[in-house]
Parts: sequence; C-alpha cells; structure tokens
Amino acid sequence: MRHLIAGNWKMNGLAAEAAALAEAVAQGCPVEADLLVFPPATVLTLVARILAGTPVAVGGQDCHTDGSGAHTGDVSASMLRDAGATWVILGHSERRAEHHETDDIVRQKVNAAVACGLNTIVCVGETAEHRREGRQAEIVGWQIAGSLPKDFTGVLAYEPVWAIGTGRTPTEAEVEEMHGFIRGELRRELGVNGEKVCILYGGSVKPSNAAALMALPDVGGALVGGASLVAADFLSIARAAAALSNGSAGG
Ligand code: 13P
Repeated sequence: MRHLIAGNWKMNGLAAEAAALAEAVAQGCPVEADLLVFPPATVLTLVARILAGTPVAVGGQDCHTDGSGAHTGDVSASMLRDAGATWVILGHSERRAEHHETDDIVRQKVNAAVACGLNTIVCVGETAEHRREGRQAEIVGWQIAGSLPKDFTGVLAYEPVWAIGTGRTPTEAEVEEMHGFIRGELRRELGVNGEKVCILYGGSVKPSNAAALMALPDVGGALVGGASLVAADFLSIARAAAALSNGSAGG
C-alpha cells in the first residue's frame, strides 16, 4: 500500500515563501509516496504551476456548496479546478469551529467538489471535552454518517481537535482503536466502498512520530499541518511513508 501524505498549509504563505516551499517539496519528493499540498487560495495557481509535471498534487482548503453566485469571499470547486487544484479538504475542524460548518454543509460541499471532478479529504475528529467524556467514537460516528454522501469514494482524515497544533497526539493504541472503529463505520455507511476509503491520521504529525503512526493498521497516511511548512520536515515524513510502502508485501 502506498501511503498518502497531505500538507495543509492553512493560512500561511505569501507568494515568495509558497514558491520556495513548493520548489523544495518538488525537488525532494520520494517516488514511493503520494504527496499532496494544500496552499492558501491566493497562491494556488502559483503553486500548481510550480508542481505541474511533478508527482505532487495540489488542492484547496475548502470550497463553497454552490458553483458560483453571491457569496462574498468564498471560492467554488470549479474555481479551485481552474486554479490547478485536483483535491480539496472539506470539514476541517477549523472550518467547523470558526465558520460553523455542520455535517450537512460538509456533505453538500463534498457533492459540489466531486461534481467538479475534485478528489476530497473529509475531516472528522472529537474535541478534548468529548474525549474526556469518553464520547470520541460517538462523535466521530455521527460526523461520518452526516458528512459523507452514500456514494463517497474519497479520503477520510481523523484529526482529534485536541491534537491539532498542540504537539500532543493520541497513543498508538488510541489511534489504532479509532481507525478500526472508523473502518467499521465506513463499511456500515458505504458498503463495499467503505473498504477502499483511505483513512489519514492528522494532528501534530512530525518526523519523530510519523513512521510509528503510519505503520498502524488502517492508517493510510498523514494530514500534516505545521510540519508541512518546513520542507525538510514534510519530506522526512514523506520518506517515512515511502519506506513503509517499500516494506509492505504486495506494494
Ligand atoms: P498540525 O500538524 O499542525 O497539528 O495540524 C494538523 C492539521 O490540522 C492538518 O489539517
């Protein structure tokens, strides 16, 4: 199995920094891992041009439910395509929290993105409070049921909110337990397609913990925030993924 490594640059990167980061990623990317970067919308075209012809694909960090219209400040799926994106992240916890995105809105966005031919990464994950209360599986189960269309064939990212940008990660046992639970929910919700969905782990992934996290069952790669802004760190995580792909029987 080839692992997927996605770098979410979030609201970081003016043109010069974004170009330098994209060039460094393109130069250092190992062939045995699938790499994606998600720059801010303002530099999407620039980054897509730099990465054209390389194995690194480019995506947007969000899109609107509508194709066009009176939605000041928003970006549609077709605009992302037009700018060179082939992927989009939807339902990131920062969008859910800061822009009040519900599961229902996320599902509509997935449909809009797929209709434009974009590949999707849908994010789910519990808050610290939910985990303290032991409700992480319940919350993630609800998010999966509500956010994914029944014909979903994209990628799912499990990102516990309390692990994002904090340097804290769940234990390997906790990640394994949650990814196993997610696989079961995907099978239940999506039938045979649920078997094929790649499940990424996200939240304080760094070079020192990436290999161990990605080696766990049902972890198909990583969604990386802060460490994706440092080319050497992102590429180190990519090499860890490539080493796992090389080592796995059957490729
Ligand atoms: P960090 O890797 O900075 O914790 O961010 C994770 C994330 O939110 C990726 O989408």
